[in-house]
Amino acid sequence: MNTHAPALAAEPLPFEDFRHASDAELQRRVEAVKEGLGESLLILGHHYQQDEVVRFADLRGDSLKLSQLAAASRECESIVFCGVHFMAETADVLSREEVDVYLPDLSAGCSMADMADLDSVEAAWADLADVIDVDDVTPVTYINSTAELKAFCGRKGGIVCTSSNAKKVLDWAFARRRRALFFPDQHLGANTARAMGVPLEEMTVWNPRRELGGNSREAIERSRIVLWRGHCSVHQMFKPAHVAQFRERRPGIKVLVHPECSMAVVDAADLVGSTEFILKTIEAAPAGSEWAVGTELHLVNRLAKENPDKTVHFLSPMVCMCSTMYRIDLPHLAWCLENLARGTPVNRVRVPDAVKSSAREALQRMLDLA
Ligand code: 13P
Ligand code: SF4
Repeated sequence: MNTHAPALAAEPLPFEDFRHASDAELQRRVEAVKEGLGESLLILGHHYQQDEVVRFADLRGDSLKLSQLAAASRECESIVFCGVHFMAETADVLSREEVDVYLPDLSAGCSMADMADLDSVEAAWADLADVIDVDDVTPVTYINSTAELKAFCGRKGGIVCTSSNAKKVLDWAFARRRRALFFPDQHLGANTARAMGVPLEEMTVWNPRRELGGNSREAIERSRIVLWRGHCSVHQMFKPAHVAQFRERRPGIKVLVHPECSMAVVDAADLVGSTEFILKTIEAAPAGSEWAVGTELHLVNRLAKENPDKTVHFLSPMVCMCSTMYRIDLPHLAWCLENLARGTPVNRVRVPDAVKSSAREALQRMLDLA
């Protein structure tokens, strides 16, 4: 429990008290809580968060950096995570025992993470065991997954990866065992394996709704990597035609995309990398350069605003924003913080101890690779 909070109030303040408050009022309330709680509060913010929220984050980053920051936090007693549910769970697993983690809106999930659950991954593992020796398979979960799936990887000698270390993680996996089962993002898995030289014939996609994932026994026997049939609903919106249109209209433009995009989009792009890589690349680019960026809209808009000496375009003509990240807005942040400060905390994200230890094993293997 948070020891800085007074144990007076019994009922949390209702969200309704915050819903219609003006931005100025909410900002003032957030600032007051931050000042009052001082170093006992750490606000972490993912790059996809809206400006109105991310400006209050003590630290910003991509998924890898944010998990490293949670693991390294020494002063705080509470982490308020401006991101999505799997990120808050990861912070709960990696932070010190005394730290409580909160997510301002518990409905801020990740549709990709929802595409793989423990039952279907266990069923896939059992099906694979009928065809190949699973002692020769490393399960690798993208960090965009539930803590239960990270725990599954922990128990099976597997590991977690993020979009910025997927190659390093798969190198580790292939050095130990011949094959990998990669979930839930087929695109990150395929793009990374292909960049490492795994031929397409040695990759197979696993559809959890079909027998043997929709594969023949031969295809499974041949595969070095089995890719779960999951995807990001935001990044699937970018198409190779968008890249072609920009190249035609703006000769010399550089195209930079996230590895959750399809292989065809990654092939058409100049550069691929995590949100932190995207941010650093644009920051370091020469003045006057022009970019089309294929990742979440809020980050791209911020990059355009913060780099006025360069031209930054959004790669798609459609609005592709992460609607769940967007749920963390100023009213929810103020509501969560004020309740925390008055001793009526809301929206704590708590990974059960039995899950935590195995999930930590898989996460720690990843962090050790850094
Ligand atoms: P990053 O690790 O690049 O921040 O990606 C997280 C994510 O959910 C991208 O869609
Ligand atoms: Fe999940 Fe995609 Fe949103 Fe990232 S952008 S949190 S992968 S739905």
